[in-house]
Amino acid sequence: VSLKPYNTFGIDVKARYFAEVTSIEELEWILKQEKYPTKMILGGGSNMLLTQDLDALVIHIGLMGKKIVKEEDNYAEVRVMAGENWHDLVLWTLDKNMGGLENLSLIPGSVGSAPIQNIGAYGVELKDHFISCEAMEIETCKLCTFSLEDCDFGYRESFFKQQGKGKYVITSVNFKLTTKDHQLRIGYGTIGEELSNANVLHPTIEDISRAVIHIRQRKLPDPAVLGNSGSFFKNPVVQASKYEELKERYPEIPSYRISENEIKIPAAWMIDTCGFKGTRQGDAGVHERQALVLVNYGNASGEEILNLARQIQEKVKLNFGISIHPEVNIL
Ligand code: EPU
Repeated sequence: VSLKPYNTFGIDVKARYFAEVTSIEELEWILKQEKYPTKMILGGGSNMLLTQDLDALVIHIGLMGKKIVKEEDNYAEVRVMAGENWHDLVLWTLDKNMGGLENLSLIPGSVGSAPIQNIGAYGVELKDHFISCEAMEIETCKLCTFSLEDCDFGYRESFFKQQGKGKYVITSVNFKLTTKDHQLRIGYGTIGEELSNANVLHPTIEDISRAVIHIRQRKLPDPAVLGNSGSFFKNPVVQASKYEELKERYPEIPSYRISENEIKIPAAWMIDTCGFKGTRQGDAGVHERQALVLVNYGNASGEEILNLARQIQEKVKLNFGISIHPEVNIL
């Protein structure tokens, strides 16, 4: 089975076996089948780079459903199955006047994949509205609940990318959202600018969602049109002394302070400064409006994308003395 329709990079690799599960019972049944020794879980396929054919059973998670499970004065708790599309969830919550996820509008992928890398954008991360998730242990088919603490979330990190890697299938996620007195987060990046350009003086959560959608549509390629996996690298965190040293060479260097001694530097800026923005090697390229995004112009192989990524890493290291690491999972 070709996995091209199942990964947003649009890489054409094949899986030896493929199954789609739409219920917990089906998931359990397929995980128990011993004739497929290697099993791989596939959600939205929006954060992976496939570099070779997979001699495995690929299980696509099609668990659907979302419901409000608790309503208090100012908050609601919603439970969402892993196969739901992330952005559809965001729109559904906004339609019900539930606040929290608006800054995370238009992020590609599925709900079940979102906790794995603690998706984040415009000053908000999944963890800010996460209560818990349920996951099936692949080895035993036991369903376990993971609290916020269990998930050990960090910047594009979680238990599921570390000790839990490859061991669980996330089946559902519980979120805590506001139903009144929404906390608006407009301080990050160009959201404020976007709102004032649109003459929005008293923004609602829907206005923020619209602003984020506009910013993303301007800068980030639509995976349905041009294959990509969002940011390919994480933004590195460096010591303040390292930053000061770079600032002498590059007075215009952008940065975000993380703590007294730690500074995050946008990898996009370094890649851009190295001259990679808009470059193309065969069908593998660096997006022309966001240097952190690698793109597939049609028929690039995973190896070609990876090769370009390695050249970028080397040049950034040479130029700035900083190692940058992929955010996407390379398989
Ligand atoms: N910049 C450049 N050249 C470029 C692009 C950006 O010099 O080609 C500079 C900009 O001037 C800006 C800085 O780099 O000062 C940061 O750029 P941007 O605001 O676009 O954000 P980012 O750090 O590149 C991160 C996330 C995105 C998220 C945005 C907005 C990571 C790895 N990426 O990108 O997440 O949407 O912030 O919050 O943290 C993703 O993870 O897939 C993703 C798209």
